[in-house]
Amino acid sequence: MHYNGYAHIHTIGCQMNVYDSEKLGTVLHALGYQLTRHPEQADIIVCNTCAIRHKAEEKAFSFLGRFAKEKRKNPRLITVMAGCVAQQEGKNAFQRLPHLDLVLGTQAFSRFSTHIAALKSGQRQIVDTAPSDVIFETLPDDTAFAENPVSKFVTIMQGCDNFCTYCVVPYVRGRERSRSWQSIVAEIEILAEKGIREVTLLGQNVNSYGAKENSLSFAGLLEKVAGVDGIHRIRFATSHPKDLSHDLIRAMADLDKVCDHLHLPVQSGSNRILKKMNRGYTAELYLSRIDALRSAIPDIGLSTDIIVGFPSETSEEFEQTMALVKQVGFDSIFAFAYSDRSSAPAAKFSDPVDDTEKMARLNRLLTFQDTMTQKKNEQMTGRVVQVLVEGVSLKQHDGFVKTTPHTRQMTGRSEANKIVHFPSDTLAAGDLVEIKILNAYPHSLWGTASGTVMP
Ligand code: SAH
Ligand code: SF4
Ligand code: F3S
Repeated sequence: MHYNGYAHIHTIGCQMNVYDSEKLGTVLHALGYQLTRHPEQADIIVCNTCAIRHKAEEKAFSFLGRFAKEKRKNPRLITVMAGCVAQQEGKNAFQRLPHLDLVLGTQAFSRFSTHIAALKSGQRQIVDTAPSDVIFETLPDDTAFAENPVSKFVTIMQGCDNFCTYCVVPYVRGRERSRSWQSIVAEIEILAEKGIREVTLLGQNVNSYGAKENSLSFAGLLEKVAGVDGIHRIRFATSHPKDLSHDLIRAMADLDKVCDHLHLPVQSGSNRILKKMNRGYTAELYLSRIDALRSAIPDIGLSTDIIVGFPSETSEEFEQTMALVKQVGFDSIFAFAYSDRSSAPAAKFSDPVDDTEKMARLNRLLTFQDTMTQKKNEQMTGRVVQVLVEGVSLKQHDGFVKTTPHTRQMTGRSEANKIVHFPSDTLAAGDLVEIKILNAYPHSLWGTASGTVMP
């Protein structure tokens, strides 16, 4: 193939962006570019951006800003802002980044190669934030397997129709649309042939997969994916509590390959705040779904997202969030200080919580969860968990060095998504193994292989 130079892709934001960046990589590869981890070596630099919070947006501007000087030295260097900030900013991006060559919105990825050709023939400052009727799909090529040879994200739907009042996603990603199950399964079959053993199916609200298209339900899709030979494990994110159905809980319980883990964002424990967020459920409904999940899948690992300091959140309402978090006992949480997004309705709500108070609430929540995570990890000692081996661990545990100094230390994840380290000279990435947990650490577990191995 004609060699065109080096391309560097920098990804900020959610798992969907990781997936999208791989697709952009596939396009660049097809155009003859070789991917590089080193931006200073690159002839084309792409930043795939996230607009979810102010900080994420700033990261995009600061990353791309670094190449203004480079560009003066090397006018042939192409710089691209892709994804959610690109969609949000359009041509305004040039005000802060006059050296930028292409603003590629979230639905413009199918036109990426055309724009690259135009840039190569001398055009500058191209903006494409136009909508698209088709969902951009490319089959994974070898460039997609560099990061993790065992586990991959697969986006199954785009956009969101929920319009939570704090959230920018419906404005930057557009309306919800699902890919066909046939194309999803075909993609996963290729991944399995390449050695991938775990897939995480992605959508903003996977429970409504196929609803608009009136096709297979999400539970039905899980069954299809479970039928792909070579795939040992299936995960998915994100589930919206209002749409978590009994069918899905059943499918999770019945399908062995679906991991016993669920990420179920609650956002707040206060019904008044949940209503202002337009979440469509109450704290009581959320707790009843947790009960249903735990009675169907007793060992289920649970994680959640929480926003603290939503406009007008009182300290009592924050205490309700703390109380809910304590009551559920999550394995892990992702907590964020509310960040104003000008396109989202909550930006116009009165009564903002001041930043110092927001940070104080966030710190209390995170400190509590650290203790809970440690406690949950300690509860695992003595138990046997199924682990998908990811490879040789880079970090050596002290206890391990003393007891088994000549054996390799491997790493993998349990079904509940906990990192597990263990000694082995025979196991390899992609093996499924049973590990007896001997020690718990704040961010990982340690144990020894104890049983059945599926190579
Ligand atoms: N679709 C998913 C979440 C997508 S965004 C869902 O509905 O749960 C990931 C997380 O970012 C959200 O769950 C929320 O906790 C957080 N988030 C979104 N907008 C935010 C904002 N304006 N400020 C702070 N956190 C926000
Ligand atoms: Fe944003 Fe709500 Fe959609 Fe999640 S469900 S992406 S939080 S609007
Ligand atoms: Fe960010 Fe866009 Fe994902 S705003 S969280 S990259 S959908």
